[in-house]
Parts: sequence; structure tokens; C-alpha cells
Amino acid sequence: MSTIQFPKQFKWGSATAAYQIEGAANEDGRGLSIWDTFSKTPGKVYNEENGDRACDSYHRYEEDIQLLDELGADIYRFSVSWPRIFPNGTGEVNQKGVEYYHRLVDSLIEKGIEPMCTLYHWDLPQALQDKGGWENRETISAFTAYAEFMFNEFNGKIKKWITLNEPWCASFLSNYIGVHAPGNQDLQLATDIAHHLMVAHGKAVQSFRKSGTEGEIGYAPNVTWYEPYSSKQEDIEACNRANGWNLEWFFDPVFNGAYPIFLLEWFAEKGAVPHVNTGDMEAISEKIDFLGINYYTGNVARYKENEGLFNCENIDMGYDQTDIGWFIYPDGFYHVLVKIKELYGDVPIYITENGSCYNEEPVNGQVQDKKRIDYLKLHLTALHRSIESGVNIKGYLTWSLLDNFEWAYGYSMRFGIVHVDYETLERTKKDSYYWLKDTIEKGRFEV
Ligand code: NOJ
Repeated sequence: MSTIQFPKQFKWGSATAAYQIEGAANEDGRGLSIWDTFSKTPGKVYNEENGDRACDSYHRYEEDIQLLDELGADIYRFSVSWPRIFPNGTGEVNQKGVEYYHRLVDSLIEKGIEPMCTLYHWDLPQALQDKGGWENRETISAFTAYAEFMFNEFNGKIKKWITLNEPWCASFLSNYIGVHAPGNQDLQLATDIAHHLMVAHGKAVQSFRKSGTEGEIGYAPNVTWYEPYSSKQEDIEACNRANGWNLEWFFDPVFNGAYPIFLLEWFAEKGAVPHVNTGDMEAISEKIDFLGINYYTGNVARYKENEGLFNCENIDMGYDQTDIGWFIYPDGFYHVLVKIKELYGDVPIYITENGSCYNEEPVNGQVQDKKRIDYLKLHLTALHRSIESGVNIKGYLTWSLLDNFEWAYGYSMRFGIVHVDYETLERTKKDSYYWLKDTIEKGRFEV
């Protein structure tokens, strides 16, 4: 037995996102988002499910904050539904939407839980999509105006801001692979959208600085890890490309003001080049205060001619998979964090998401999700190793507080430490919730 002990000032908490938990899709003046449209397009989401009701957190937020409080959370990461604030994407403000987030944030502060607010967790107002969405540079200005409004409105209350959640998903997964809204399949388009998202991020950071808003700002890219199957140069290079799609592509512009050349060249061969305007890279590289990192899975992989975008093939090494089919690869968590420090220096990092999908149901009021506890232990141990190696990790937020609408998987995949019965909306704390509560209380756990 050994003890994994976290630093005293280490912060703990959990994360959610508006479309996945709020529900109340047609209430209090909320406008439509691309996820309303996408989920109501036949064949896009498992079982034709949508976020109309979700966990009904819009009405039950006090109960959810109570769950966070009992957990001992220091931070709650939530996202704001852009179309609740600006139903048309820009222009008129919907005061009722603004009031909801004041109620939420006030209740958090009252309980001593620090709000961490994500401005964009994929629910682009449909009105903006109708004008081209992220392909249209006007969306960048609309996002900046929305961000500015939020900074002014919540200045002094919200002190941790995240511009974008997982820009890789909002661009490539949504517009090249096409399984998320709006569902395009076009590499050039996705490359431009990735660029526009990052410009929007940069401009929001610039306006945060200019407005003198109190607090810190960052973004939350998703990372994964491809471990070369062998030490052959071709395997190493294939994994570098696959890693770089999430890592260097979305980090180099922020930290170095330029796209990684090895990937630019690779993409150019596929006919995709980002269209960069004067001032874009300067905006993207506006200094951030912290990095949010989302990590779930990794793979062992090797070179294979004509395999995917990068000539890189995943290999099934027999590692366990979670119920969504993702390999459990905690070493990748360690490696990617150390690599981030090597490449980009000593930036403060919050783990803004890490968690697992297991679909256990309550039996006599108890949800025995031992596998989720094991996943948490493995990943928190890897995280602890990275701290010991000098990576500047400030805190850990697990995904997710609640089972919720898992995008294209609908309600079929459960990531919560609290179970939600989607009929009755009853919340049931899982065993993992109690395990995390104990870990937070003690600042350590035994393995
Ligand atoms: C990343 C996303 O940010 C979140 O919305 C999603 O539910 C989890 N990963 C699990 O897939």
C-alpha cells in the first residue's frame, strides 16, 4: 500500500456543460443552438435523443450545488449557453438568461465554491450558423461581443474564465469527421473553423485584458496520447502527427504565435491550409493565465500506409476499455503533461476534465461503480507523478458531476459521479462520489 498525497493548496471539483445538463430549452427566452438543430435531425444522435430536458439543472441547480458542496468541491466548472444570453447570437440581451447565471453563481459563492465559467462549450447560436457559423469571420466578432458582455456582467463574481472547450472537437470532430454539430465533412472547412475558433479565443483574451476584468483566463483543449508501438522512426513520426493534431496544432499558435510546420506541411499535402489574416496570430498568442486540460484516453499506435489522416494505426494491446470503448491509458496522461511542460514551459494547469463512462444503474439506492473509482485512482496517480516531475498542476475537476447528455451518444453513456434517472430526474450519489469526497477531504488516497 502506498499513499498518494496532493499538495495542500491543490483545488478539487467537477465539471459540466450547459447543453448537457440544463434542459429548459424553450424557457425564459433561450434561442436555439446548433445542438438543438443537430439532435433533432434524424440519425445524428443515438435514439433521436436531445437536450430539451437533460438533467433539468436549469431548475434543479440548487440541488446540484448541494451535491458539489457535500463533495467538498473547491471549484465548479460550468458553461454558459450563449443562446440563453444572446438568443440571436448578437444584439439583444435576454435578461432572464443572464439572471439564471447570476442565481447559479451567487449560490456557488454562498457555499464557498469558486465558479469556473466556460464561454463556449459547443452550443453556437443557430442564428449564427444560419450565416455560416464558424466559417464566417463575423462569428468571431459575435463571440468577442458575447465574451465582453459576460466579463462586464460577472466581473468580481467569476474569476476563472475559459474561452473555448475542446476546440479540436468544435472544429475537426464537428466539421471533418462530422459526428458533432453542425456535422460537415470537409478538411479545409474544419481547418478554417479551427483557426477562427482560436482567433475568437485570442480576441476574447485581449478584451478580457482591455476591460480590466478581475481574475484569470485560459482555454481548455482536449489532449490524448499516441505511444509508438516500436522505436522505428516511422512509428514515432506517425504518433507525433496524431498527437500533434490535438496538441501542437492548438498549442503552438497560443504559446509560440505560429502553427507547427511539420503539421502544416502534412495538411497542405491533403489540400488543407488555414486562411490566416493579418493580426490573427498576434491575437491567438495573447498570453493566457492558465491552461485547462481535458484528458480521457490514449493509444499505442504505429505507422500504416493510407491509414486515416496521418498514416497512423491504433493497436489493440488488450488494455481495458470503458463502456464507451475508450482505452484506459493513464501513462498517456503523465506523458502528455510532461510534454506540455517541455514544449511550453511552466504554465499553470487545471485538469478541467478527466473521467470515465460506466453505465451502472442504482440497486437498492446504491450505484456500485468500482471501475470508475479504479479509473480515478489510476489517473490521479499519473497526475501526481506529473506533479512530482515538476508540472505546475493547480487542480483537478472530474467529468462529470452528473450523468448527462453525451452528445452523439445521447443518454446512453454515463460519465457522472452522480447517477441521474432521466424519467424522475432523481439524483443518486455513486460509490465514486463517496470515494472522491473522502479523497478531497483528506487530500490523499491509498493505492
Ligand atoms: C469532453 C467534452 O468536453 C464533454 O462535453 C464530454 O461529455 C466529455 N468529453 C466526455 O466525452
